[in-house]
Amino acid sequence: MSAIPPPLGLLAELTHRCPLGCPYCSNPLALEKRGDELDTATWQRVMREAAALGVLQLHLSGGEPAARRDLEDILATAAEEGLYTNLITSGVLLDRARLNGLASAGLNHVQLSIQHAEAGAADRIAHFQGAHARKLALAEQVREAGLALTINAVLHRGNLDAVAAMIALAEQLGAGRLEIAHAQYHGWALRNRAALMPEPAQVEESRRIVAEARQRLEGRMVIDFVAPDYHASRPKACMGGWGQRFLNVSPGGAVLPCHAAETIPGMRFERVTERGLADIWYGSAAFSRFRGTGWMPEPCRSCERREIDWGGCRCQALALTGDAARTDPVCALSPDHGSVLDAIAERAGDAVAWRR
Ligand code: SF4
Ligand code: FES
Repeated sequence: MSAIPPPLGLLAELTHRCPLGCPYCSNPLALEKRGDELDTATWQRVMREAAALGVLQLHLSGGEPAARRDLEDILATAAEEGLYTNLITSGVLLDRARLNGLASAGLNHVQLSIQHAEAGAADRIAHFQGAHARKLALAEQVREAGLALTINAVLHRGNLDAVAAMIALAEQLGAGRLEIAHAQYHGWALRNRAALMPEPAQVEESRRIVAEARQRLEGRMVIDFVAPDYHASRPKACMGGWGQRFLNVSPGGAVLPCHAAETIPGMRFERVTERGLADIWYGSAAFSRFRGTGWMPEPCRSCERREIDWGGCRCQALALTGDAARTDPVCALSPDHGSVLDAIAERAGDAVAWRR
């Protein structure tokens, strides 16, 4: 037990409700209903247990976390417990008064999503008329409230050609940090994969543009770039390794090593209503299942990168091979790597299933 470090961060998915309908959303296809969400007191207990466990950063997420009217109460408890609080938001349900209330409750940081640099295209992707304008207004209010601001943009075929314009927009909005992340194919994004998949040439061009912008903006705006898994030859350490750095709590209270873990068949994820967070982190079968290297098949087992990428993403292995215990097929050493090449070659029109 002592060899397992405490988690660094907790992603609290307060709700799956969201006014937007982005087709790249990684929320599950079967969204949890409002009536199944944890109540305020239980979330506050989760915040206390997280702090006692050693968690340092709290990411309040969803869905849209501002869809919960008790966001302020949950946040205030987390802040009292000394957690660094980050609100991951679409921005459309917040106004100046509510933002200032959140700041008074102890909010440290806002991560605001944008879908494109142009309003028409952005609203089309978000499936919400007027979303982009509200986001721009909120970004200004975040700065005025003295909160740290990160702009987040998820990239896919429909907005990849606007990377340079999105970087310019983040600059103009005064963001200290810009996170540009290629879509990860879980949940709704997996369902829409063939419509979201970028052309290889678009990916290369985006890498070039980001590298150039990083140099130009050094010391002014940090750019985090999450490269597309499918276009890589080695996977990333998903969540920093299963059960090693992060934990998620779903709207209904399931404690998960990652946001897509519930797609893995045959696994049971305990709930905060049944067992304490620390007990689940250190002692549950689900967190132990893919922690470390003991579970690994070849080629991971004898690979020098096994403690660097931890065999990649379990949910991606499941999605591409039907078996979460295989090497992530993104890895060119995986015997299943052809499944990634096939997915890159898949092409669909721009019609997508909107998240709802
Ligand atoms: Fe990582 Fe496994 Fe590929 Fe090695 S074989 S690079 S450990 S995914
Ligand atoms: Fe589940 Fe990567 S998303 S392990």
